[in-house]
Formats: sequence, structure tokens, C-alpha cells
Amino acid sequence: MYHQYIMVIIFLFLTGSAVVLQANLCLEKEILLLPPVNFTIMVTGLSKVLLRWKPNPNQDPRINCVKYNVKINTPNEDDYETKKTQSTSVNVLHQGFSASVQTILHCGSRFFQSNWVSAELQAPPGAPGTSAVNLTCVTKIIRDEVSLHCTWIVGRNAPKDTQYFFFYRFDRYTKECQEYRKDSWNRNIACWFPETAIDGKGRGKLAVHINGSSKQMVIKPLDQLFDLHAIDQVNPPMNVTAKMDGNHLFIQWEKPVSNFPRKCFDYEVDIYNIRRDYSQTQKIQGNSFDLIIDPTCKYSIKVRATVHFDCRKNGLWSEWSQSISVEAHI
Ligand SMILES: *[C@@H]1O[C@H](CO)[C@@H](O)[C@H](O)[C@H]1NC(C)=O
Ligand SMILES: *[C@@H]1O[C@H](CO)[C@@H](O)[C@H](O)[C@H]1NC(C)=O
Ligand SMILES: *[C@@H]1O[C@H](CO)[C@@H](O)[C@H](O)[C@H]1NC(C)=O
Repeated sequence: MYHQYIMVIIFLFLTGSAVVLQANLCLEKEILLLPPVNFTIMVTGLSKVLLRWKPNPNQDPRINCVKYNVKINTPNEDDYETKKTQSTSVNVLHQGFSASVQTILHCGSRFFQSNWVSAELQAPPGAPGTSAVNLTCVTKIIRDEVSLHCTWIVGRNAPKDTQYFFFYRFDRYTKECQEYRKDSWNRNIACWFPETAIDGKGRGKLAVHINGSSKQMVIKPLDQLFDLHAIDQVNPPMNVTAKMDGNHLFIQWEKPVSNFPRKCFDYEVDIYNIRRDYSQTQKIQGNSFDLIIDPTCKYSIKVRATVHFDCRKNGLWSEWSQSISVEAHI
């Protein structure tokens, strides 16, 4: 008890004196801040790096509470402050990666900064035009599993003996493709994962890496990051039914197979008047729809779904449900 009391006092005294010192320091005209040392960039996963540095050991010890300003230069400019001496960055790496860091100090209304230190990762080697191009990916829930399907095109300069290898990373899971589709030269051009570790609600980012090999040339890799909400294809609505009652057409359906609850869906209903060759579409939030029609006509109806932005960022529409047709039984 007594010891703890002493410790608290000492601690208060130390931090208190540090604040006073720093406050005094703030009144000085110029404060010399030294840049961090031993700045390194390490690849820790697909499209993921760890930046690390150490405080400058020659820094005036009276200066504490420094922060760091991290600046990503390539591939996309970004900058942010941190108190820590490391930082993770998720970025494509096929064009190389470079970043800088400096020591900064906010002192009352004044701001001081050191010189920058920089580090970079070289772009991986490869002949121009040999990497896979036009990569597109779609995720979908099939039998309660999140499946992933990606396709790409062979680079225009890739030799006939090129082989591509596909990898994805979601969070801390990295997987290599097991089921490729091939072109007539036996080159891999699509990949299908019937089940994945990807988030079933389409949140977060998917990192894809396609590298390759050939006896004739070094094949350049391709990295791409996808926002999952933008590539998640929801299933179509289920059990669409329609019936006519006089001049009323009543349509109803059930929510798609999905990890999202019923309230998360918006729908679009397409009502096609077969005789008049005329269709109308209607956006709806509930699971049914009632409209006045001409009972002497026959109609074809389909419905599609999307996740409402209350539940996640806007994404793709589902496929249309199978069309059903209705006519009055006279
Ligand atoms: C920086 O790295 C060098 C060489 O690895 C090492 O000797 C030195 O102790 C490091 N400096 C700091 C402050 O960690
Ligand atoms: C690939 O993408 C480029 C640029 O987006 C486009 O111009 C080209 O038509 C696409 N190629 C094919 C075969 O789809
Ligand atoms: C392709 O990338 C994977 C994953 O990073 C790596 O293990 C493999 O060695 C690479 N292969 C080629 C041919 O570059």
C-alpha cells in the first residue's frame, strides 16, 4: 500500500515535470527535431506492408510526446499522423511502394517537424504487357458459403507458354486457386472458389495477386484490391408468386438467401405486358406489391434485389428471378 502510494507520487512528479519542461521548451524560438531512424518497409501479406521506425536516439531528451507523420508516396498518396513507431498499409505492390516518415511536435499553437526519411520497395520484375489484365471478381453466397469467381485476360505480350497463378487474401487468410478455367493454350484465365474465408456480409477488402511463369520471359505480377460490397452479388429473391383478382395484380416474394435480414433489402419488380409488349419497373422496399392492371392481358413478372445502404455500402443488383407469367382465368 505504502509502496504504491510512493510510486503514484513519483509518477505524478515525473509526468508533471515533463509537461513543465515541454511547456518551457515550447517558448523557445526553434526546436530541433531529428528524423526517425531505421525506417523499414516489410511485406507481411498480399498487398500489405508493415512500416517500422525507431525514435532518433540523439533527440534532445527534454522533448517528449513527439508524433510521427507518415506519408505514402507510391502507389497512392496518403498521409496520416501516429504516436506509434509502426504502421500497417494495405496497397497494391506491383508498381512498387514508397513511403516517408518524419518526427513532428505539436507545442501549444506551434508545430515543429523534422526532415523526412524514406524507404521503398522496388516494383517486382517482369516484361511489359505480360501481366494478367482486366481482372474482375464476384462473390456470391451459395449453400451458406461465400464463393468467389474471378476472370482475367492474358497480357498482350505474354508468351504462349505463360502460366498464371491466382491468390487471394481476406483479412489474415491467404489462399491459392485450386480450380482454374483455361484458354486454348492451356493458360489459366479464371478461378473459382466454391467456398472461402471471405466475410459473408461483404465488408472489408479483398486482395488479389496473380503472378506467372514462362520459359521465355519474366511475367509481371498483378495486384488488385476490391471493396467487397462492390463485388458481392446478392442472390435473387425467392418464391416469387403473382395472382390476378379482377383488375388487381398482387405479387409477392421472399428475401434472397443471404446473411442479411429481411429489412436490409430493396427490390425492383419488372412487370411486362406480353400482349402490348410494354414493361414497367418499380422500386419497392417491402416483400409484396399490388397494382391495377388491364385484366385482359397476360403479364410476365420478375424481381431482383440489392442490399439497402442502411445495412452496408451500395453494391450490385442480383440477377433477376426466373420470370413467371399470370393471366386472368376467365
Ligand atoms: C538501427 O539499426 C542499427 C543496425 O541494425 C542498430 O545497430 C541500431 O541499434 C538501430 N538503432 C536503433 C535506435 O534501434
Ligand atoms: C480490357 O480493359 C481495357 C481498359 O479498361 C479495355 O479498353 C479493353 O477493351 C478490355 N479488353 C477486353 C478484351 O475486354
Ligand atoms: C506467386 O506468388 C506466391 C504468393 O506470394 C508465391 O508464393 C509464389 O512463389 C509466386 N510465384 C511466382 C512464379 O512468382
